[in-house]
Amino acid sequence: MAEYAVQVQDVFKSYPTGFLGLKRKPVLNGVSLTVPRGTIYGILGPNGTGKTTLLSLIANLTYPDSGTIKIFGRDVRRNPEFVKRSINICSGNPNFLWSMSVAENLTYYAMLYGYLGREKRRRVERVIDLMELKAFRNTTFDSLSTGTKQRLALAKALLSDPALLFLDEPTIGLDPDMAIKMRRIIRQVHEEQGMTILLTSHYMKEVEETCARVAFLRGGALAAEGTPDELKEQVSFKVKDPTLEDVFLELIQ
Ligand SMILES: Nc1ncnc2c1ncn2[C@@H]1O[C@H](COP(=O)(O)OP(=O)(O)O)[C@@H](O)[C@H]1O
Ligand SMILES: [Mg+2]
Repeated sequence: MAEYAVQVQDVFKSYPTGFLGLKRKPVLNGVSLTVPRGTIYGILGPNGTGKTTLLSLIANLTYPDSGTIKIFGRDVRRNPEFVKRSINICSGNPNFLWSMSVAENLTYYAMLYGYLGREKRRRVERVIDLMELKAFRNTTFDSLSTGTKQRLALAKALLSDPALLFLDEPTIGLDPDMAIKMRRIIRQVHEEQGMTILLTSHYMKEVEETCARVAFLRGGALAAEGTPDELKEQVSFKVKDPTLEDVFLELIQ
C-alpha cells in the first residue's frame, strides 16, 4: 500500500495567454509535495497563486507541462480510471442544476457515479443525513442559502466515498458561524471516514484549525511546508506565540 496519497514532483504548469494564446503564462514553477495518507493537508496561498490549478492537475483534469503526479502510488496520466474512482471534488463556488431539488441533484450525481436502485437511494439518503440536508430535500438549488449550497457540494462529493477528497475553498463567502459549522463537519467526516483530504484556502485560521500539514504556495512555488507547529516554530524567535498568519507575513516580506 502506498505511503502517500499524493506525490507531486517538479510540476510546471503554464496557460496560453495573449494574442491567439501564443504566449504562455507560468502558474506553477517546479512544485513538489507529498501528502501522507489519511491526513487533512492544506494548500494555502493568496488568490491567483495556482491552488485550484494544482488540484486540477492532481485530479487529472488538466495536464502539467512537465513533472509527475501520483495518487496512491499510481501516475495519474497513466491511470485515469483509477483517478476517477478514487477522488471527488467539492468547490466552495458550487454549481448544480438550478431548477432541481437537493434530492434530485444528488440522485443525478449518484447515477453519474454508476449507482442504481437501492444502492443509489441508500447513498443519497446517507449524505442527506450526514450533511443535515433533510429540511432542504425538496428545495430547488437556486433557493438555497450559500451555506446550504456548500453543504450540498460536500454531500455530492461524499456520494462516491472518495479515498482522496478535494475541498477547494470550502467556506468561501460564508458567514463566520456557517464557516465554523462547515469546518466542524469537515473534521467530523474525516474522523469518521479517514479519507485523505486536500483543502485549499486563503484563510489561515481555517487551515490552522483543520489541517495536519500545510503548504504555502507563493509565486508558483512552495514557500514553506510542514505541520502548523513546525511552521510557527520557524518564526518564534521573532514573534511571541506566533500564528500561521505571522508565518505568512514573514514569508511575503
Ligand atoms: N483555464 C485557465 N486558462 C488560463 N489561465 C488560467 C486558467 N485557470 C487559471 N488561470 C490563471 O492561473 C492563475 C492561477 O489560478 P488558480 O489556480 O485559479 O489560482 P487560485 O486557485 O490560487 O486562486 C491565475 O492567474 C488564473 O487567472
Ligand atoms: Mg482557486
